[in-house]
Amino acid sequence: MQEMRDFSQAPARQVFIETFGCQMNDNDSTRMLGLLEKIRYVRTDLPERADLILVNTCSIRDKAEQKVYSTLGRFRALKQARPGLIIGVSGCVAQQHGERLLNRVPHLDMVLGPHNLHRLGELIERVESRGERVAATAQSAAIAEGEYGVAAKSAGVKASISIMRGCDNFCSYCIVPYTRGREVSRTAGEILSETAALARTGVKEVTLLGQNVNSYGKKGGSGAGFAELLRRVCMTSGIKRVRFITSHPKDVSDALVDLFDERPELCRHIHLPVQSGSDTVLGAMRRGYTRDEYLEMVLAIKERYPDMAVTTDVIVGFPGETEACFSETMDLIEHVGFDNIFSFMYSPRPGTDAAGFGDAVPADVKSTRLRVLQERQREITSRERSALVGRTLGVLVEGASKTDGAELTGRTGCNRIVNFAAPRAVAGEIVDVCITGVMPNSLRGEPCVRPS
Ligand code: 5AD
Ligand code: SF4
Repeated sequence: MQEMRDFSQAPARQVFIETFGCQMNDNDSTRMLGLLEKIRYVRTDLPERADLILVNTCSIRDKAEQKVYSTLGRFRALKQARPGLIIGVSGCVAQQHGERLLNRVPHLDMVLGPHNLHRLGELIERVESRGERVAATAQSAAIAEGEYGVAAKSAGVKASISIMRGCDNFCSYCIVPYTRGREVSRTAGEILSETAALARTGVKEVTLLGQNVNSYGKKGGSGAGFAELLRRVCMTSGIKRVRFITSHPKDVSDALVDLFDERPELCRHIHLPVQSGSDTVLGAMRRGYTRDEYLEMVLAIKERYPDMAVTTDVIVGFPGETEACFSETMDLIEHVGFDNIFSFMYSPRPGTDAAGFGDAVPADVKSTRLRVLQERQREITSRERSALVGRTLGVLVEGASKTDGAELTGRTGCNRIVNFAAPRAVAGEIVDVCITGVMPNSLRGEPCVRPS
């Protein structure tokens, strides 16, 4: 049995945390900071000042993984100068390489897989008081009660809530089911208490997170399906906006689509990763839908909700992707008119099925396809944004604009950034803004004067 230490009198120590990858990792970093606060760590932006350095890693593509090693290299000199400094790695690279990371990186003290974050305090204690180097990468099929804790700290007006972990889809290119384990949902009760706790700290917008949120409740959870959970989160007192990410196209239910009509808190934005417009490639990726099925669903959503922003992910250069396959992807993005896309060159990941596929696409072809896709999408995005000029949109004010402190910044329900000058508006309010212009990454606007 671990002896409980009393930290109330301990001097404050400083933690520096660097986060790579997706929103799930951002959420994990927030959770770790919350746990560390309880044992008297405060956050610093200066690694030179830190008593603890955490690198929260991503291994979705090889490039992301390589960044981890260069980041750790940067901290070697700090550890040499101050041997008492603790350096830890968490996230997907930690899970993938486990104890081997301790051999590969001699100045590393701690390796922490995504199912072990709640053990952070105990592991720090082992490093500190026994001088051990530790790796915790066991995976569990269930989420223990309270494992996620209840986030009580406000992150401003917006916060994210992890509603599940892992993924059971095993798309042939993807490392996530290996690093984050099998899919399991948190109970609705825990998620709703976390939402309410965040609302009490002033949070107005929550984003529900998971690798495949619309299969929420299939394993674990407490009986509610995703649409029901979402409805209950929307009804939480104080919550003005609700988002969710990521949905899998094969699991979008009618109940979910109907909910956009029912709940005004539900933002008109859906992220639906298509990955490719070619049936041959989709089959090899094991995505579980065809091009036509995807198109039919997305176009029906856009027809029913003309102001819905639809975004997607695309991988170019998957093994066996011919010019004809790529043209089908280009044709699909043209047809849908996505608000935005996140596009990537295929990167073989160890242990995945696709890593053993033949017919690799040469690197130069991959980068040409990526460029062509991104250039076309930039035009489509700018067309979609220009169509908003003259319209009035509700903007949730987040605070002063980074580029001009005299202006305010916030986001529309469809997640576009809007900067505008207003004599009076406070963070957390939703203000009606008339859109007056389009910038490369944001919109400009002015507050609407309502007829009195
Ligand atoms: N190579 C390139 N992109 C990938 N993604 C996932 N795995 C890979 C890979 N091996 C992309 C997918 C996914 C997004 C989060 O990352 O598009 O939706
Ligand atoms: Fe990876 Fe597919 Fe699961 Fe998304 S749905 S995390 S791409 S395996």
